[in-house]
Amino acid sequence: MMVLLRHQRYMTALLSSTTILLLLYFQNYMLVLTYGSYGLISKKVPCACSICVTDRENSNWFSEQYDPNIPLLLNSTNGVLHANVSRWWKELQSSAGNYTEVVDQLFPLFPDKEHYSDAGPDRCRTCAVVGNSGNLLGSNYGPLIDFHDFVMRINKGPTEGYEKDVGSKTTHRIVYPESAVDLDNSTHLVLLPIKILDIQWLISAFTTKNITQTYTEVPSTIKANKDKVMILHPEFIRYVYDNWAEGHGLYPSTGFLSLIFALHICDKVNVFGFGATRDGIWHHYFEKILTSYENSIHAGRFENETINRLQRENKIVMHKGWT
Ligand SMILES: *[C@@H]1O[C@H](CO)[C@@H](O)[C@H](O)[C@H]1NC(C)=O
Ligand SMILES: *[C@@H]1O[C@H](CO)[C@@H](O)[C@H](O)[C@H]1NC(C)=O
Ligand SMILES: *[C@@H]1O[C@H](CO)[C@@H](O)[C@H](O)[C@H]1NC(C)=O
Ligand SMILES: *[C@@H]1O[C@H](CO)[C@@H](O)[C@H](O)[C@H]1NC(C)=O
Ligand SMILES: *[C@@H]1O[C@H](CO)[C@@H](O)[C@H](O)[C@H]1NC(C)=O
Ligand SMILES: *[C@@H]1O[C@H](CO)[C@@H](O)[C@H](O)[C@H]1NC(C)=O
Repeated sequence: MMVLLRHQRYMTALLSSTTILLLLYFQNYMLVLTYGSYGLISKKVPCACSICVTDRENSNWFSEQYDPNIPLLLNSTNGVLHANVSRWWKELQSSAGNYTEVVDQLFPLFPDKEHYSDAGPDRCRTCAVVGNSGNLLGSNYGPLIDFHDFVMRINKGPTEGYEKDVGSKTTHRIVYPESAVDLDNSTHLVLLPIKILDIQWLISAFTTKNITQTYTEVPSTIKANKDKVMILHPEFIRYVYDNWAEGHGLYPSTGFLSLIFALHICDKVNVFGFGATRDGIWHHYFEKILTSYENSIHAGRFENETINRLQRENKIVMHKGWT
């Protein structure tokens, strides 16, 4: 065990120094290229990575779908919804409650800012979006996943007991009340609100703790750092549905929303734990229950096509576990 541990640390150290060297070398190479073709005028780049998500030249399809101005997260000044977004969002599950009154209670309680507006030529933010697919089992991706700046996990996907394959770091966890779990103090709870009651639950979980029921039983409270809470903007959810799911299904899945969220806050996006196992089986790495690929709420097949296209157009890199 000791030997294995040391070995792993050594591998991690080796991995980081190689990557830095490669990056530096690559950037020098880029600089030379830039110098060669433009003289001393340096080319404006959207980020400091070798390839940036928002490089506009290389995919017309991507540029047409991607809206850099869409509000990603709710704050005290951007909460008012367009009538059409409001109507759509309130019909997803239940419209009980007064949206305006509920949203007004959020930002005395949670951080109120414009998050992640720090993109620029000096930033290279790498992100791992980790889905819950059984194709993670036996992948040994743990150290690779943990190597990213942001590690975004989805719903209940645990790390404890699966570190070798899924890693142990979690910077963001995207959940709704019915899928929420305790987080550690350094993790951002990112709420995916599908109804007003979800936002009420979030408030209650950190205050009165008296909401215990939505369409099913939910935890009255969870362990999480109040100063790191974020709420996905209903307009962002609608945007993902319109532009990326192209109106398929009722609303996008948590995994798909998380992946598109990453495209907006990261410069480089690596995707793990999406899709079926080699044998075409759809299940979660942490439970034996088979998950349904085609269900009535999310458009699994269309989301899969979009994710594969993002890979083909060099916007994400998919790690399938068994290749
Ligand atoms: C909703 O309304 C806004 C502003 O009126 C408009 O820009 C947008 O295209 C509309 N979206 C849909 C899905 O109709
Ligand atoms: C929601 O609450 C606000 C402020 O209290 C009020 O102005 C508005 O009419 C209410 N909306 C509905 C649909 O009840
Ligand atoms: C809220 O977010 C919007 C972008 O959606 C931004 O323009 C605005 O400055 C933010 N407000 C605060 C208080 O940070
Ligand atoms: C969690 O982090 C916050 C700062 O974001 C700090 O104030 C608090 O004491 C920490 N709690 C624990 C249990 O470490
Ligand atoms: C929870 O408590 C608040 C404040 O005491 C109250 O306004 C609200 O109606 C309660 N909600 C439930 C579901 O009991
Ligand atoms: C997902 O998309 C890929 C590439 O288009 C395809 O090979 C695969 O069969 C799809 N999976 C399902 C379950 O539709």
